[in-house]
Amino acid sequence: MIREFTLTAAVLAGSTAMGQAAEIRLGYALSENSHYGAGAMAFEETLTQELGDAFTVRQFPNSGLGGEREVIEGMQIGTIDATIASSGTLSNFVPEVGVFDIPFLLRDLDHARTVLDGEIGDQMLAKFDDVGLHALAWGEQGFRHITNSRGPISTPEDLAGLKIRTMENPVHLKAFEALGAAPTPMAWPEVIPALQQGAIDGQENPLSVIVSANLDEVQKYASLDGHVYSPAIILVSQQLWDGLDDDQKAAFDTAADAAVAAMRDYVDNVEAEGVATLRERGMEVNILDAEQKQAFQDGLADVYTEYEAEFGKELMDSIIATQ
Ligand code: PAF
Repeated sequence: MIREFTLTAAVLAGSTAMGQAAEIRLGYALSENSHYGAGAMAFEETLTQELGDAFTVRQFPNSGLGGEREVIEGMQIGTIDATIASSGTLSNFVPEVGVFDIPFLLRDLDHARTVLDGEIGDQMLAKFDDVGLHALAWGEQGFRHITNSRGPISTPEDLAGLKIRTMENPVHLKAFEALGAAPTPMAWPEVIPALQQGAIDGQENPLSVIVSANLDEVQKYASLDGHVYSPAIILVSQQLWDGLDDDQKAAFDTAADAAVAAMRDYVDNVEAEGVATLRERGMEVNILDAEQKQAFQDGLADVYTEYEAEFGKELMDSIIATQ
């Protein structure tokens, strides 16, 4: 992680009146060609449209400022200004957000977007203000699927003993343990080398990541089970946010909305075309039908009781009931 102090936006937010541009250091895990890159570009362009050259956004893609956890910790101490990161990592900072990581809770993209754009999503974003961060909006990755080097996965039995990398996320870990896999939590920057070296057999991520990170180069099989929706959040440091005036805050909100729209567009496209892309690149892709997915959901019945105890049955029921 880059630890030296630069004149970040947080430091300079108060000095824009003197004509100095404040640099916003925006770190994210994936490439500029990914949904995160699309979101970052829309954020940068919109902020410039709204505020001229008061701020310059400097992007650090491909974990250029460290893994997601390190970037978020950097934001808490004010050395990094902004990020787009997955809820999987963010639930280590605001555990309540983990409710969205529960497998099969969000039914489809429309359902997920309605929940996140509504009151439940807003209440979750507000919780980041208590941990030195300010969450601007819910971005998106899409539904997560399994890739591996052993063979197609169509039933929970196919997961038996599979060394599968999960995010450092207790909700996901519990689910894969319950399904009989051998889950290995690992930070994203270590995943591709671990797949190359055969230290793990597989990983799980949405098509947006599988396609943009070229996982077909290190994995033979993709099994589209859509076991969990994967939200992302666009965040700035509390230090930066507190230094903005009301007009600047409104411009950051507008820029985040543009980032969300760009990410969702990217996800819609990759959901439509990603399978063909992966097959063209030589991957063997199987798409689970509703009955096959139900077998995975049934395998999680016991952990669902644990999730209810942890996150509250009422909250889970109101997410399920959202139309
Ligand atoms: O699997 C993960 O850790 C995340 O989905 C990723 C790829 C870093 C994007 O946030």
